[in-house]
Amino acid sequence: MNDVGTAMLIRGTFVTLPSLAALHILTDYLLGVDETGHITHFSAANSPTSKALLTSTAVPPIQIPQGSFLLPPFCDLHLHAPQFLYQGTGLHLSLMQWLDEYAFKAEERLDADPALARRVYTRLAQRLIENGTGTVLLFGTIKEGTNLILADTMQRAGVRALVGKLSMDISSRPSYVEASAEAALSAARSFVSRCKETVAALPAHSRLVAPVLTPRFVPTCSNELLEGLGRLAAEQSLRVQSHMAEAHDQVEWVRSERGAEDIDVFDQRGLLTPDTIQAHCTFLDAAALARVADRGTAIAHCPLSNAYFSAAPFALREVLAAGVRVGLGTDVAGGYSLDMMSAMRHAVTVSRMREGKRRLEHAGENEAAESVAIDWKEALYLATQGGKEALGLGRGSGSFEVGAPFDAQQIQIFDAEKGAGIGALDFFDLELGESPDVSIEMVEKWWCIGDGRNRVGLWVQGNRLELSVLVGHE
Ligand code: GUN
Ligand code: FE
Repeated sequence: MNDVGTAMLIRGTFVTLPSLAALHILTDYLLGVDETGHITHFSAANSPTSKALLTSTAVPPIQIPQGSFLLPPFCDLHLHAPQFLYQGTGLHLSLMQWLDEYAFKAEERLDADPALARRVYTRLAQRLIENGTGTVLLFGTIKEGTNLILADTMQRAGVRALVGKLSMDISSRPSYVEASAEAALSAARSFVSRCKETVAALPAHSRLVAPVLTPRFVPTCSNELLEGLGRLAAEQSLRVQSHMAEAHDQVEWVRSERGAEDIDVFDQRGLLTPDTIQAHCTFLDAAALARVADRGTAIAHCPLSNAYFSAAPFALREVLAAGVRVGLGTDVAGGYSLDMMSAMRHAVTVSRMREGKRRLEHAGENEAAESVAIDWKEALYLATQGGKEALGLGRGSGSFEVGAPFDAQQIQIFDAEKGAGIGALDFFDLELGESPDVSIEMVEKWWCIGDGRNRVGLWVQGNRLELSVLVGHE
């Protein structure tokens, strides 16, 4: 332990998520953070090292009140930034119709109007912060400049963001497409270097945004484009994101137009690697899922979007059992909510319906089979640490390890002074002034019925972000 460089101390209860199977509540711990936003110390407040740090550090610790706790922020592993413009619209359509009638038009509007793009992306960043999302993997639009606005907006807002300029040289909308595979490849290359340039002058710890190669999905990308992107990814060690085997109509489209399965199209072009995050994967059979596991590719599971567009639920438990890294995504605007609390709840709900169906279908014959349901703790892991692991950013951050960036959200579940729960949380049966420690039942209650009223803080890389900027907005 070394107190040199400790810029901030925080003392209170921490909820840690070291693995899918483990959630710990650490009561009265002390955490130190240095000037670069990295954790320098984490142990019980009454340990000798903590006591020494408390006496030797000039700044007093920030005291997290009883009834509150810190836990890692959410990581949204799949969100279409421009579609925030029309969030919650047109969800009666099938995926391919919805893309034609809403998505492409909205994205084109932002590409034509930088002021609108700035406005939409600024509000999006504010909403992400308000909802406790500290890290996000974004799909943008086709045009370079619009994606640079997106990167700049997230960087300024203090949100960790991986920004994907869309690559698409095929489209149902003639005004929203790149001219050729060659043009699309040089645009992708250019965006990668310009996005990196926007943060190049900052010290490494302050660089919150990075580019990610983003072939939209198989129907909008020629094989030549996909091949070039696979080469570019390998050459520059870049992350890749796309949609794979998402929906019944999309899978049929690829079979009839390309005579292939999504997974083969990606795999043959070097786009199924440990640096790849594929959204959905609802229409993959066991052999295909085994191939995803073998390639080390991660999956962004978006249960709300699946319920509207996919026509089949994702085999979450089986995929986790196969060792695939999985995070949760909102898929705004295929999903209408950018709140990761709702993504977690939907993931659990869908998994429980799958488990119920499995039991009914195999009544009496398969009693010993493992449940395919996931529980709230597992969902909380996937919504926070799972996403970061998928992005290769996870080391140590789920358990506030020394050396990890300090990213956290502060949740208040009851007010000891008033003897009352916060927001939607009632009936803790507290006596006035009573301050019991945060228990597992209290965290579960927050997980089930908590909302934005319970979120009172968000830090990314040691910086505290302003949660309430939207109060009284125009
Ligand atoms: N597949 C290709 N593009 C999209 C999109 O914008 N949203 C969703 N949900 N799926 C897609
Ligand atoms: Fe999507």
